[in-house]
Amino acid sequence: MTQRQSRQRQSEADALGPWFHNLHLPDGTQTAPDHPLGDFPRVKWQHLVAVIPADLRGWRALDIGCNAGFYTFELAKRGAQVVAIDVDQHYLDQAQWAARQYNLEQQIEFRRWQIYDLARTDEQFDLILFMGVFYHLRYPLLGLDLVAQRLRRMLVFQSLMIKGHAPYTATDGLGIQDDREVMNDPGWPKLAFIEHTFANDPTNWWVPNTAGAEALLRSAGLRVEQNLGYEMLICAPDPDNRSCVTTWNRAELLAATGRPWQV
Ligand SMILES: C[S@@+](CC[C@H](N)C(=O)[O-])C[C@H]1O[C@@H](n2cnc3c(N)ncnc32)[C@H](O)[C@@H]1O
Repeated sequence: MTQRQSRQRQSEADALGPWFHNLHLPDGTQTAPDHPLGDFPRVKWQHLVAVIPADLRGWRALDIGCNAGFYTFELAKRGAQVVAIDVDQHYLDQAQWAARQYNLEQQIEFRRWQIYDLARTDEQFDLILFMGVFYHLRYPLLGLDLVAQRLRRMLVFQSLMIKGHAPYTATDGLGIQDDREVMNDPGWPKLAFIEHTFANDPTNWWVPNTAGAEALLRSAGLRVEQNLGYEMLICAPDPDNRSCVTTWNRAELLAATGRPWQV
């Protein structure tokens, strides 16, 4: 590539800014080299690299909140067919432009979707990335239930989390007259609600502690297989612990997603 072409690439990237993902394009152009979180999200990807199968040929993947597509491109480079969704057209424009730079357009389908739009499809995905989105949801368990219902093999869940404190495990079987003080235990599964802003962002609604995140995932019918640290959990469908939304509580999910529920 000539210097002139490289300058052209850089000015196209600048025109699509601001960028949240620092992509390293094939010609060496970086989209957010001065990112406040470092070489983001490559710094996070380093902890995932060995956990995601190196060969994803034949896998169908879903990247929720794909942003500029960093993770989408990593999965596509490994051979996956990826559906990449995001609510924000600004980020989808970046991702679609970058897909052309990587020559990966054939493997990726971008959709301007809310996570809740998953209620309108029966598609199943071998691998789902649910990273950096959970805490942005006003209806987090609805989002998680929809995700879990679309999963075939492996989920990467990443959220802002409240750190510390061993999980409080004896959460079952309290009676209505029992003292609820135990729920103040720091390890009790929790979601902290953000009424106004967190990190200057009014779209940050809920921050789980680790026990809370793991309990929610289990409640959605998933097995937490690995806590990678760095707020990342690796999960798989748990056939021995099916979600209540597939059994006695199916009507609530159907009603919440505008589908007929009365038998
Ligand atoms: C913090 S960024 C995380 C981006 C990427 N997944 C990552 O981990 O680096 C959150 C992304 O989720 C998108 N998003 C927020 N709410 C969403 C929703 N309800 N459905 C789909 N995408 C959403 C935002 O537009 C943004 O691109």
